[in-house]
Amino acid sequence: MTITPERPLLPVVTLPTEGAAGTCPPEAPCASGRAALTCRYRCGDACAHDAPNTSDNETFADVMARAASRRGVLRAGAVIGAATAATAAFAGPAAAVPTAPATKGPKGKPGPAPKGKGPYGLRFDPVAPNTADAITIPSGYRQDVVIRWGDPLFKDSPRWSVDRQSAAAQRRQFGFNNDFLALLPLSRGTQLLVANHEYTSEELMYPGYDPANPTREQVETSWAAHGLSVVAVRETRNGSLEPVVGHQLNRRFHTQTEFRLTGPVAGHPLVRTKADPRGRTVLGTLNNCAGGTTPWGTWLTAEENFNQYFANAATVTDPTTAARLARYGVAGTASERQWEKFDDRFDLAKEPNEVNRFGWIVEVDPYDPRAVPRKRTALGRFKHEAAQPRITKDGRVAVYMGDDERFDYLYKFVSRDRMKKGRSASAKRHNDTLLDHGTLYVAKLTGDSPTSQIDGTGTLPKDGEFDGSGAWIPLVSGTKSFVKGFTAEEVLLFTRQAADVAGATKMDRPEDVEPSPVSGKVYVALTNNSNRGAAGKAGADEANPRNANKNGHVLELTEHRNDSGATRFAWTLLLVCGDPNDPATYFGGYDKSQVSPISCPDNVTFDRHGNLWVSTDGNALGSNDGLFGVAVEGRDRGLTRQFLTVPLGAETCGPVVQRHRVLVCVQHPGEKDGASADAPASHWPDGGSSVPRPSVAVVWRKDGREIGV
Ligand code: FEO
Ligand code: CA
Ligand code: CA
Repeated sequence: MTITPERPLLPVVTLPTEGAAGTCPPEAPCASGRAALTCRYRCGDACAHDAPNTSDNETFADVMARAASRRGVLRAGAVIGAATAATAAFAGPAAAVPTAPATKGPKGKPGPAPKGKGPYGLRFDPVAPNTADAITIPSGYRQDVVIRWGDPLFKDSPRWSVDRQSAAAQRRQFGFNNDFLALLPLSRGTQLLVANHEYTSEELMYPGYDPANPTREQVETSWAAHGLSVVAVRETRNGSLEPVVGHQLNRRFHTQTEFRLTGPVAGHPLVRTKADPRGRTVLGTLNNCAGGTTPWGTWLTAEENFNQYFANAATVTDPTTAARLARYGVAGTASERQWEKFDDRFDLAKEPNEVNRFGWIVEVDPYDPRAVPRKRTALGRFKHEAAQPRITKDGRVAVYMGDDERFDYLYKFVSRDRMKKGRSASAKRHNDTLLDHGTLYVAKLTGDSPTSQIDGTGTLPKDGEFDGSGAWIPLVSGTKSFVKGFTAEEVLLFTRQAADVAGATKMDRPEDVEPSPVSGKVYVALTNNSNRGAAGKAGADEANPRNANKNGHVLELTEHRNDSGATRFAWTLLLVCGDPNDPATYFGGYDKSQVSPISCPDNVTFDRHGNLWVSTDGNALGSNDGLFGVAVEGRDRGLTRQFLTVPLGAETCGPVVQRHRVLVCVQHPGEKDGASADAPASHWPDGGSSVPRPSVAVVWRKDGREIGV
């Protein structure tokens, strides 16, 4: 079903207010539009627990900022220099003093873009906010489902039925809750689709599911429904894409598949287990969220909320171990899915180190059907949201990463070695080691306006922008730690704690972080943080300027000399999201009467014109989640148009914007409180009385022309 909005730029339906049935109540810590059911299964109710970052590093920054504001104009270089000198606990080399000017928006007042006009790539009639159980797209476009949960990947894959699920069948079928998505070149008319399967929502998957007593078959089916899929897809005559069942590159990776630990932590005593006394081979990958693709042809996928799968942290008595677990949100006794009843490795009382083997960036070579995926320990361990590389000016590789938790950090890894171009065997061997050697940095951001002008309401400071400068603080390089009290391996294993000591800036849930392939500027989606400014929590700062931040913001980072190898940068907020009628929003200086409402930015990508595309997770304005195109340059900078919305209860993930197609992962459709496989809240995509099925969807133009031109 496609809904064509009559009046595309403003809401045309009455939307439920916050706290309506099926959404978080206003007093809930997350207070987004996300269902409690999503919180429970996706991130282990992370928002219902206290944010695990209890470090006081931001207090120090506050002191410095106050001192600077007394001097009048805050000169960022001076502040960072002083901050570096005064961070006594930080034992690394002095962070560079940034001198790059903060990025400024356009000075000219942009005029409103007529309906459907605007920059190339964004010339479509915006979709209005809505709560339809459908993907809603602009007029003149078509849509289709490419692949859905349970669809076959292999010739022997059993046909999926909600009433005939098994672990054996699921291991041969597309998994549940697809998040990251990429399409890699293969041959004319055929591409290689890679997607991950972040988590399982058992109540929506299994009719009659009893959360107190999951059966072995249900648990093992969920193990198989997690993980990754690689599947070739071919273009159809009508412009859609369809899976090539049985293609030689099709693969499924799940919770029982072998992964190899590589880099400095591989073999360390803290990653050795009874089943793997060498500490080098892990079964499975868990809670893979977003990811990235590399210029050498591999796929990066990020292990995010791994904490929720491990039981009995409450039995740990060693204070150091307990503190490490707490900093990662590993807590309590029984886990939600109770996997510990069926495999001891999920029970911390029986296997204390298994948890240390998750929380990594995983690299997969989807072009080699025999390749064992690598967990790259040199990129640190946290709740990895995504990882997107960019080549530095001297040919090395920088990887940008976010740690998606309230008050956690933004990271960058820079390899020691240069990438070798080409697809020769020797280039492949060399590039397979790139992410094992390098330096891991964490970001410190400093505003350029006096803190007295950052009052937590979202009101712009007098210079007209939330902006400033920043430094990449090195944490570890190879076997050398720059953090006092941490070995190199400890920095990588317990990166959050090392970054606390180094004085990183507490951000509002850094999710996707991606450099633009057109401009090199890096865009950071900061989803929300309703705890910002709460009692005992860090208050607003210029990079996170709203207390009780429900709608999130998008930060634009410009590396010094546009070199991803730089250790200093400038930044500015491109979007301060929300209802444009809300004065506490900002759309790059663009006329707010001409933009779509946007809430809770999560994943980002780019079109070939350089426009930023943003998908959302947990719309706090009452609409279904969606995908938005945002102009980032010139007179249209800040123009934001909604391209699609996903069905009821779903999140928009993994956007891919090609010349002729837009693809999204529709994750957790129908995940509304009270819904179950017996009483579904959504029937997308199969219709009738069917259960909802997470799927990859494709949108293209009826006339076959380019997207948005
Ligand atoms: Fe899996 Fe941070 O979203
Ligand atoms: Ca400013
Ligand atoms: Ca995400």
